[in-house]
Amino acid sequence: CGIVGYIGHREAYPIIMKGLQRLEYRGYDSAGIALFDGNNIKLSKTKGKVVDLEDRVAKEINTEGSLGIGHTRWATHGVPNDVNSHPHYSNSGNLVIIHNGIIENYESLKKELTKRGYTFKSDTDTEVLINLIEDVKKNENTKLGKAVQIALNQVVGAYAIAVFDKNKPNEIVVARLGSPLAIGIGEDEFFIASDASPFIEYTKNAIYLEDEEMAIVRRNKGVKIRKIKDDSLVDPYIQELQINLEQIEKGGFDHFMLKEIYEQPSAIQDTFRGRMLPKDAIIKMAGVEDNMKTFLNADRIIVVACGTSWHAGLVSEYIFENLARIPVEVEYASEFRYRNPVITDKDVVIAISQSGETADTLAAIKLAKSKGAFVFGVCNVVGSSIARETDAGAYTHAGPEIGVASTKAFTTQITVLTLIALRLARAKGTITSTEFRHHMIELELIPEKVKKALESDDYVRSIAEIYKDASNFLYLGRGYNFPVALEGALKLKEISYIHAEGYPAAEMKHGPIALIDENMPIVVIATRKGHYDKVVSNIEEIKSRSGKIIGIVTEGDTTVKKLADHVIEVPESLELLSPLLTTIPLQLLSYHIAVMLDKNVDQPRNLAKSVTVE
Ligand code: G6P
Repeated sequence: CGIVGYIGHREAYPIIMKGLQRLEYRGYDSAGIALFDGNNIKLSKTKGKVVDLEDRVAKEINTEGSLGIGHTRWATHGVPNDVNSHPHYSNSGNLVIIHNGIIENYESLKKELTKRGYTFKSDTDTEVLINLIEDVKKNENTKLGKAVQIALNQVVGAYAIAVFDKNKPNEIVVARLGSPLAIGIGEDEFFIASDASPFIEYTKNAIYLEDEEMAIVRRNKGVKIRKIKDDSLVDPYIQELQINLEQIEKGGFDHFMLKEIYEQPSAIQDTFRGRMLPKDAIIKMAGVEDNMKTFLNADRIIVVACGTSWHAGLVSEYIFENLARIPVEVEYASEFRYRNPVITDKDVVIAISQSGETADTLAAIKLAKSKGAFVFGVCNVVGSSIARETDAGAYTHAGPEIGVASTKAFTTQITVLTLIALRLARAKGTITSTEFRHHMIELELIPEKVKKALESDDYVRSIAEIYKDASNFLYLGRGYNFPVALEGALKLKEISYIHAEGYPAAEMKHGPIALIDENMPIVVIATRKGHYDKVVSNIEEIKSRSGKIIGIVTEGDTTVKKLADHVIEVPESLELLSPLLTTIPLQLLSYHIAVMLDKNVDQPRNLAKSVTVE
């Protein structure tokens, strides 16, 4: 979910609505807003997107007021409908709340409150929380801030919340545990949001709350931060924001996803800029240098991640093992954290996350740290929870990624991981200085080659036109390109809702081959250096069962061309770097199919970009 709030001298409504739109990547199954006009709270909410909310607001309320909070939801408790949408009132109607996260013990709290006469309109955990706050406020006769604090100490779960009281309309109380919350500091005005994007045109100064902190944000007075547990005061640390407005707008592209696909040449360049100097045969990354001993003494590397980031982790397994000869295990963070894994202080854990907020990944990190492992983060969002929770790390520097389907985050994650693997390989002596330099020179050429790969866009669109109505797709690859096949299938599923499966090409004969008939498009990654002959045999097997073959091949390929129905060429590179190129046409293919099927590319149904619940 995404939350936004404003208190100051401007009209809150347009600021909150624009902010919600920018946060829609965090969830978009319902939206709502509560404004205070000096006398009353005006609340409007609806199932659907922020544009639906705009329509609803126009019919229901006037939008005056310089205090307000808004929410865009990704349902956890209760189906997405009008009633379950946020904000939620307390029973008296005096307090109003927005919440991102989950209150795990909400049922027992609800029972308790019901006994005391509270009633609930929705199925949400959030309505329980606001009534708990009201109950504490009444019973203990305290101010709102104190009541929130006492209530939160009874809560188990995760949250970023914003609450205000109609009888004290000069303050908003916010708190965080496990879900991000930023406070923008303007002149006599304050902004609250899940990330800084809703307020970057108003201020570059922001405070990011830490876990278990709350803040009282007062009109004309400032921000007071306290620890929720022991009430101690915290000195606010004001950061200067690095992002700008242009980075979070579409810049002439139809969709963020397409813009982000096209940003990959420069994003990859930004990832290795200043870190890689092929001329001097140097790769330097502070987080790695400072912990070189730990890396070199590691028995193994465990990668934890979810979704697309997990796929980047899988690619890195091949790269680390091949270059640096360090055993690597790649785990879904959600599995790792709950299966009592064997971890020791000789393990290095690498956590990969675009958002830096994924709840399962964060929990896996905490577990690994508690067992003594050194945890290294690979995140895109600067200052995110994972970036802060890890012992050291390297940012991907891809710039804001807004399309829900991850694209440039994936290729830049692979880039960072390749740099780390190369650096470690050199330090361990598992590659020669000539190989080391050769890899760097090749990596430096990748941005240009990605540009070249993007030139296939029109051709990929023509292939999308042919297969857009298929109900199943298979994606095959081997070695470094096996994870790319998984990622290609995931992209298609995510945005076009066509079922797709990724498989190691040679495993096809152990199952998926049964699915193949003349209606089945099969995308096969068959780059010249990667077990080429073996993949060609796999293609023959598909062909003899009449499957439709879309080959992703190296420029100038002739063999696959003869066998496949279509071939999409990518420039030649080292096999180890080929995922950075073969991924591109797969991203474009899913993009075009989704557009042709009239799906919401940037905000596919049921998904959210940043999953801050487990
Ligand atoms: C969500 C997103 C995916 C993403 C995954 C992990 O499911 O929809 O695109 O890969 O979370 O996110 P992270 O921010 O940790 O990389």
